[in-house]
Amino acid sequence: MQSPTDTLTITRPDDWHLHLRDGAVLDSVVADTARQFARAIIMPNLKAPVITTELAMAYRQRIFQALDQAGIAQGAFIPLMTLYLTDNTSAAEVVKASQSGAVHGIKLYPAGATTNSDAGVTDLLGRCSAALEAMQKSGMPLLVHGEVTDPAIDLFDREAVFIDRVMIPLRRAFPELKVVFEHLTTSDGVDYVREAEGPVAATITAHHLLYNRNALFQGGIRPHWYCLPVLKREKHRLALIEAATSGVGRFFLGTDSAPHPKGLKENACGCAGCYTALHAMELYATAFDTVGRLDKLEAFASLNGPAFYGLAVNQGTLTLRRGNYQIPAELPMAESSVVPLAAGETLGWTIAAQS
Ligand code: NCD
Ligand code: ZN
Repeated sequence: MQSPTDTLTITRPDDWHLHLRDGAVLDSVVADTARQFARAIIMPNLKAPVITTELAMAYRQRIFQALDQAGIAQGAFIPLMTLYLTDNTSAAEVVKASQSGAVHGIKLYPAGATTNSDAGVTDLLGRCSAALEAMQKSGMPLLVHGEVTDPAIDLFDREAVFIDRVMIPLRRAFPELKVVFEHLTTSDGVDYVREAEGPVAATITAHHLLYNRNALFQGGIRPHWYCLPVLKREKHRLALIEAATSGVGRFFLGTDSAPHPKGLKENACGCAGCYTALHAMELYATAFDTVGRLDKLEAFASLNGPAFYGLAVNQGTLTLRRGNYQIPAELPMAESSVVPLAAGETLGWTIAAQS
């Protein structure tokens, strides 16, 4: 007989930070997310970044086409679009985005911080004040890649320095602006988000809950564990686990699943990004189970995000069951393949049913 903790039924979850890419890669990956989540915030860092509402609407159509091709029923998965903030984003564009009903956030990539961020912002308060003012007024959230790009700052300190140099001045200038600190990775970030006044929240990935930076080097250099912001020390992982499983409404699920072809990961200069769309809820459940807090998974995965974004909670449920889930070695992706995070390893939870 199964004890109650051997199965867990939660409201259907959402992914508040996802990379779907475009073209043949989009076609290959979209069903993985749609099988796990009802909605996802779609990151705008395509090769040609999604800088206008018009581009976001066209991208949304391509996502719907890909879902259709993958046999996902219409309406079963809703992409929540975002724009890519640049030095030139106008207040009028923000108004257009917010009136579209389809754009749910505007993403700040400090120029050069990560994959496809060359068109990102060079000086947030200096160049983007009109856009930020319009966002604050219309309730449009700013989604933040919270790392400085200053080469003098140690890679592992870039999130903490970002808080002092960018986050604090930004929120002083725009105290009512909704801000999501994306893919939080440090105890400094957790403390900041917990204590800050005003509408601030954060997403946390499954990989930052499960692994510390040792995972990058275990038995040799392991490119499939490399993402940005990079995995941190154990004390930071513990702070993230504590935050994610606390039930505090400011913390919610964002996989940051970021597919790259196998050959560009296993490379002399491997790309940053972990592919977790396939097994996201299995990974999160395994992480929550390590601290005996499965009862807090629903708030993190299904309730806190919609509350922050001002959206309704999903209909339907997802049931997870304790049991072995073996992560496949690789999956076909466009003309190549993608290696999921922790390929070949076994997780302690598996998806049993959806309604
Ligand atoms: C993301 C990607 O590949 O687009 N990579 C990553 O390591 N997370 C970009 C990002 O979110 O930083
Ligand atoms: Zn990302």
